[in-house]
Amino acid sequence: MEKIIAYTRVSEAVRRKLQQTYDVEYFQNYEYIDNPSFRKALQEAKGIIGLELNVTKELLDLAPNLQIVSNVSVGYDNLDIEVMTERNVMATNTPGVLTDTVADAVLGMMLATARRIPELDQFVKKGEWKEYLQLEHFGTDLHHKTVGIIGMGSIGQAIAKRCYFGFDMDVLYYNRSRKKAVEKDYNATFCNLQDLLVQADFVVLMVPLLPETERMIGEKEFKLMKETAIFINGSRGKNIDEKALYNALINKEILRAAIDVFETEPVNPNHPLLKLENLITLPHIGAATKENELAMSLLAAENLIAGLNGDTPPNLINKEIVRSVIQ
Ligand code: GLV
Repeated sequence: MEKIIAYTRVSEAVRRKLQQTYDVEYFQNYEYIDNPSFRKALQEAKGIIGLELNVTKELLDLAPNLQIVSNVSVGYDNLDIEVMTERNVMATNTPGVLTDTVADAVLGMMLATARRIPELDQFVKKGEWKEYLQLEHFGTDLHHKTVGIIGMGSIGQAIAKRCYFGFDMDVLYYNRSRKKAVEKDYNATFCNLQDLLVQADFVVLMVPLLPETERMIGEKEFKLMKETAIFINGSRGKNIDEKALYNALINKEILRAAIDVFETEPVNPNHPLLKLENLITLPHIGAATKENELAMSLLAAENLIAGLNGDTPPNLINKEIVRSVIQ
């Protein structure tokens, strides 16, 4: 049986299915190449399926038989695509299946921040609700406000749809290219980043992590936002400058924020951001629901099996290796 490594988030049902054909070694936690049993598994592995494994040159040096890394995620900033391509290792991801799930999570963060849901939940549970509520406890409306979506890929579009049809919001967007269908379907307005930051009540960051998006939201960008603005990061922690977010929140340059992602994950419990009352956090869980974990794992398994069988995986990222590896 060919050896494959399953890493962190791969649904149990899918692991069982893979075990019928492959010798599957499962690493449930964030193991890395300093762990001898992980190094040993890498020596033999033909495929890796999982979430957030940093596939670097160093790791590839330890994995001479590796043919494919199948990410159980749409983002693939954990993969060094250039080196993988040089070494004819296929890279795949899971676009599409998670779009609505992530968009739901972003809307959840928008509502929770606007209406201060986690904070008020604590207020009630701690027995602090003793009198008629005053203005200091009130949140802000979501409906009929302006959302500015940075990154109009399929998740950005699903967010725009919810904002437009569900909450009667005006939609602004900034993207590498114009999306005429979004403009037509959700009455969205294409604008430059500066105009979006100045005008939006809700600024939603939904771009992949690339060299050109890294830290794209920093001190200057937070200063451009309204003092009443709510900032949501559903993308990657490294797309923002966390120190600048901290300063913007503590100095009340923006009203509140919600983030699903951090520069380093799992986040250090002493991270200064975690002390802020006007910030809601999630543990990078936007794509992870019970239903979607299975859907993503199934798609990732389909990619893995296709690659190991010598077929073109449906979601191959480094298509340039097709000619040399896949017939
Ligand atoms: C989640 O963050 C993903 O990239 O799928």
